[in-house]
Amino acid sequence: MKDKYWLMGPVYDALSYLFAGNSILECKRSMLTSNNLKPGDKVLFAGIGHGKEAIYAAEQGADVTVVDLSEAMLEKFKQGLNKTNKALNINIVHSDIMKVEEFGEYDMVVANFFLNVFDEAFMAEVLNHLIKLGKEDALIVVGDFALPEGNLLARMAKRVYWYLAIGIFWITTGAALHPVYDYRRHMELQGLKMIDKKHSRVLGVNAYTALLGKKVAVG
Ligand SMILES: C[S@@+](CC[C@H](N)C(=O)[O-])C[C@H]1O[C@@H](n2cnc3c(N)ncnc32)[C@H](O)[C@@H]1O
Repeated sequence: MKDKYWLMGPVYDALSYLFAGNSILECKRSMLTSNNLKPGDKVLFAGIGHGKEAIYAAEQGADVTVVDLSEAMLEKFKQGLNKTNKALNINIVHSDIMKVEEFGEYDMVVANFFLNVFDEAFMAEVLNHLIKLGKEDALIVVGDFALPEGNLLARMAKRVYWYLAIGIFWITTGAALHPVYDYRRHMELQGLKMIDKKHSRVLGVNAYTALLGKKVAVG
């Protein structure tokens, strides 16, 4: 199968830096705190891309698995990893996330700027799959564009910002074209208890949001 990210893969992080400075990376790292992540924790990053945050998690002592369908993206991930010159505990999996079936294995499952590539119905299925990969009290992290909130002008500006980004990915990678998803609602619908939310700002505006949910034992 052709790598949909063959064009975007080599330049993805540079483009996101141009688009947002350090705010996207800040969002992606924001839930990897010592409260949420302990040495030895098993952490899965879905659709990892260049994945600086996964390297960071491994540097904190986590046992990290990264999954991505794109060879081009994983190549950049490996280059970043080689530059660290550290022996880190990272398992690299080149696969469709839906084919990863280590259910109930992970302390934390992270989906940063990943769920937005799918149409809403399939996104909900992917989120459900990610939740199943977590242990029964796992933490689930979703980092992505902030829901357009605030006054009319702020909402319009955020929509333009979002459609500029998703438009580029729609053209270059075939990502679904859609409004910003309400991930909090989807996480709650799937039974997660929401325990934290952090914003990252661009030009003083909340542009990105990281959401932290926790699986709660049923019954
Ligand atoms: C928009 S990029 C985000 C990359 C990274 N998480 C980040 O925040 O920079 C989406 C990533 O998901 C990967 N991807 C898309 N569909 C996938 C699937 N079904 N299974 C695994 N990875 C997938 C793409 O190859 C790409 O690396």
